[in-house]
Amino acid sequence: MKIILAAGARPNFMKIAPLIWELEKRKKEGNLNHVQYKIVHTGQHYDVEMSEVFFKDLIIPVPDINLEVGSASHAVQTANIMIEFEKVCFQEKPDIVVVVGDVNSTIACTLVASKLGIRTAHVEAGLRSFDKTMPEETNRLLTDALCDYLFTTCEDANINLSKEGIPESKIYFVGNIMIDCLENFRLQAKKRGTSNNYGFKEKNFALLTLHRPSNVDEEESLKKIYGIIEKISREIPVIFPVHPRTRECLKSHGITNDADSIILEKPLGYVEHLNLMMNAKLVLTDSGGVQEETTVLKVPCLTLRENTERPITINLGTNTLVGIDEQKIIENFKKIIDGTYKKQTKIPPLWDGKTAPRIIDTIIGIRLS
Ligand code: UD1
Repeated sequence: MKIILAAGARPNFMKIAPLIWELEKRKKEGNLNHVQYKIVHTGQHYDVEMSEVFFKDLIIPVPDINLEVGSASHAVQTANIMIEFEKVCFQEKPDIVVVVGDVNSTIACTLVASKLGIRTAHVEAGLRSFDKTMPEETNRLLTDALCDYLFTTCEDANINLSKEGIPESKIYFVGNIMIDCLENFRLQAKKRGTSNNYGFKEKNFALLTLHRPSNVDEEESLKKIYGIIEKISREIPVIFPVHPRTRECLKSHGITNDADSIILEKPLGYVEHLNLMMNAKLVLTDSGGVQEETTVLKVPCLTLRENTERPITINLGTNTLVGIDEQKIIENFKKIIDGTYKKQTKIPPLWDGKTAPRIIDTIIGIRLS
C-alpha cells in the first residue's frame, strides 16, 4: 500500500505530524512492512516561519516532494497545485491520498486524486461554518463530497455530513488529530519559557492571532480591531505574532503600533506558540485550530468571527464568538479578568491524543482490490 500525505499550509502540518509518527512507530515495530508513504508539500506556505520551522518543531521529515506553488489568487493557486500534484500521482501511483483541514491545498489534491480514481481520505471532515463567504467553507464542502473516507472530530461533523447525504459507511468518528500534537508537546511547551522571555507573568498577558481575510483585508475592520486591542493592552500586555497576510495588510492600511504593551512578533513555531497559549490569561483569535487548542488547555478564547465551524468549542469549551463588536469583546474581556467568565469546560469526546492510531488502523485496513 502506498499512501501520500498531502499538506501545504501552516495549519496542515500539525495534522499530518501525528500520522507520520504513528506510521514510523509501526514501521519500527515491524508491523507495517507492506506500507510505504510519501509526504507531499504543495508549497502554499513557504516562509521559513510558516513552514520549515514546523517540520523541525514537530520532528517530521522534510517532505519527499515540494510542489513549490507559492501564493496567488485562489483560482491560480488551486490550479497550480492541481497541475503539479497530478504529475506526482502519475509518477508515484499512490493507493490512497490523505488530505487534512480546509485550505486550498486540501481541495486541490482531493480533486486531482478523485479524478484519477485514487482513494481519498479527509482528516477533519464535516466541519461547517455555513458561511460561504469563507474560502475554507467551499474547500470543506467539496472535499467532503469527493473523499471516500471522512475522519471526523466531533458529533456535529457527523450530523453535518449525514445531512448532506453522505452515507454513514464513509464516516469515521476518530477524534481530533491536532490534540495528538498538543498532548505530545504539552510538557516540552511548559518547559520552554517563551512567555517568561517576553517578561510576562503567568496568566497576565493576552495572545492575539489574526489572519482571516474578512478581518484583515479591509482597512476599516483591521483598524477597528487594532483599536480594541489597544484598549485591552492598557489593562494587560498583548503579544501578537503576525501572519504574513496580516503583516502586509497592516503595512498597506498604514497601521503602526504605537502602544508599548502590544508586542508585534514574527510568526512563532509550534512549541513557542503552545507555551504562550497555555500561559495566557486569554486568547483573541480568528483561527480555527486555536479555538480547539484553547478548549483543551482550558484557556478563555474570544473568537473574532461571527460564526465558527467548531461550535463544540463554545458548547463544551472555553470559546465565545465576539465578532469585531467592541462591546462584546470588552464585556467578555472584563469577565475573564474578574473571574466571572464561563468555567464549565469539558474536553470533547475523543480529543484524547489517540486519533492518529485510529486513523492509521482504518487506512491500513482498506482492501486494495
Ligand atoms: C491559508 C488558509 C487558511 C488558513 C491559513 C493559515 C486557504 C484558502 N486559506 O490562509 O484557511 O487558516 O492559511 O495560515 O487555503 N504569505 C507569505 N508567506 C507564506 C504564506 C503566505 O508571505 O509562507 C502571504 C502571501 O502574501 C499570500 C498571503 O500571505 O498572498 C496569503 O497566503 P495564502 O496561503 O493565500 O492564505 P492564508 O491567508 O495564509
